[in-house]
Amino acid sequence: MLTTIKLQEEINRLKKEKDVCILAHAYQTHDILEVADYIGDSFGLSQQAVSAPQKTILMCGVRFMAETAKILSPEKKVLLSHSMAGCPMAEQLTLNELRKLKKQYPDCAVVAYINTTAELKTLCDVCVTSASALKIVKNLPQKDILFIPDCNLGSWIEGKVQGKNFHFIKGGCPVHMQITKEDVENARKNHPDALVLVHPECIKEVTDMADYAGSTTGILAYVEKSDAKQFVIGTDNSIVAHLQFSYPDKEFYPLSKECVCKDMRLTTLVDVYNCIKGTGGEEIILPDDILINAKKSIDAMMSYE
Ligand code: 13P
Ligand code: SF4
Repeated sequence: MLTTIKLQEEINRLKKEKDVCILAHAYQTHDILEVADYIGDSFGLSQQAVSAPQKTILMCGVRFMAETAKILSPEKKVLLSHSMAGCPMAEQLTLNELRKLKKQYPDCAVVAYINTTAELKTLCDVCVTSASALKIVKNLPQKDILFIPDCNLGSWIEGKVQGKNFHFIKGGCPVHMQITKEDVENARKNHPDALVLVHPECIKEVTDMADYAGSTTGILAYVEKSDAKQFVIGTDNSIVAHLQFSYPDKEFYPLSKECVCKDMRLTTLVDVYNCIKGTGGEEIILPDDILINAKKSIDAMMSYE
């Protein structure tokens, strides 16, 4: 049986031998983060997919992240380390539903959270991530915004932008949406000195009550800069563990025990090993028309940087 350290050594050896760049979303487990060339949120992963010099990208995260990497770097081979790791929110709206909505709201800019399928991105004007959404929506020339599919992220932005009309349809992250106002009240009672930091995929009642709302990387950066000693974290609970590991002298608590993304948790170090060896994972292949048309909305997002 291979130990964690042996597996990591083998992965690091194969990475060099096969010219592979491993990108890992921050929700992945610690043993995977240790073999990654880059760790980040959705926006950071998109940027790294372009700048990585390697010919192959191995994405440890969920499908839409690997698809985004492929769209941005079609000449590279892009692998998803676990073929069943998807984001349920990415599939909440179908292509036909979006076609109908575009007819219903012809003057709206269609703003898509990056947590959407490649197919859906082909019909959108601009993609956003939780880290880039506010800046992009503020600067869009259109006054009317059709924001898909995350109503919670959309409402959070609506609360911070003036002079625009927002339309939301349905959808949201089933993991973050489980966090309730009562969870925040309990956290304040149990940890009165702690700051409450949440992801904007949480419902509006929760983001309104938090000390800070921001992307995965935003939450990590907030802790790094803060002098506070205790934090309650309202995002995937892997972040609680990573923060506790990085700052052993501070205290971190989950806002809800339920906030665990099963899809992000599917990938194991053995999956990464099998994928890099060529006996597991999935190569992302997208038809040319999807690659070309989906790229327009991601390029539009990048143009705001
Ligand atoms: P981030 O871009 O903040 O990593 O969010 C992506 C995601 O799926 C979080 O649930
Ligand atoms: Fe999708 Fe939510 Fe999981 Fe993020 S946490 S990948 S939005 S289901």
